Amino acid sequence: MRFDVITLFPDLFGPFLQQGITRRAFESGQVDVHLWPLRDFADDNYRRVDDRPYGGGPGMVMLVEPLERALAAVRAQAGAAPVIHFSPTGRKMDQALLREMAGGPGAVLLCGRYEGIDQRFLDRHVDLELSLGDFVLSGGELPALALLDGIARLQAGVLSDARSHEQDSFEDGMLDCPHYSRPEQLTTPEGQNLPVPPVLLSGHHAQIAQWRREQSLQLTARRRPDLIAVARAAGRLSKADERFLATLVL
Ligand SMILES: C[S@@+](CC[C@H](N)C(=O)[O-])C[C@H]1O[C@@H](n2cnc3c(N)ncnc32)[C@H](O)[C@@H]1O
Repeated sequence: MRFDVITLFPDLFGPFLQQGITRRAFESGQVDVHLWPLRDFADDNYRRVDDRPYGGGPGMVMLVEPLERALAAVRAQAGAAPVIHFSPTGRKMDQALLREMAGGPGAVLLCGRYEGIDQRFLDRHVDLELSLGDFVLSGGELPALALLDGIARLQAGVLSDARSHEQDSFEDGMLDCPHYSRPEQLTTPEGQNLPVPPVLLSGHHAQIAQWRREQSLQLTARRRPDLIAVARAAGRLSKADERFLATLVL
């Protein structure tokens, strides 16, 4: 799949795409990322891509014309991919969307800066607006990287163990269970002994699976009861899940 990123800060992407386990997806071209520096599409000596807002007020607005030239250049190479604009006003990005996109053809990713992009460009060209969450960042580059990272780790062969992402938070609608590794007994500087939950050392796979499911249900019920409600409405909770949830004091 191909992603074309229109950005004022292309240098933010290079190091990220070359590090960590997801670089496998970028280096192999499974997730083929092309960067389009917006200033290359300015038409004056100052490489200007923004101007003051009509109606007054603080900040600058990204201009339509450089963006249209950039998008035309992308289209000439990449064809008619959907255009995603990152914005706090968009739909919140979630695992279901990443999973859907991970099997798709890719997209053009549009990273805003300043006060944002002239609405006339957004109205004419953008198919989907995505938010990273209810907070305001300085630009759309981090949301674009978050999307690319989330999609890259879902590609076949990227994670060393394909089951890794299947047990991640949100994959089955719940939050992930806690994880433990060595040592079996951790002695803290305060002299406290913190053992690994014994069931994880039992070698009993069914009991371990049940413990993990219950931990996951408990954490989700405490922190994200909205996810429990969605899973219940979708019929994704078993009778055993419901019995366990009924025992919880939240
Ligand atoms: C300073 S922000 C502009 C915020 C905009 N004036 C608002 O209040 O909605 C600059 C750019 O950062 C990106 N951005 C900031 N926060 C974001 C978020 N939570 N999710 C996605 N993109 C975000 C957008 O591309 C936005 O155009």
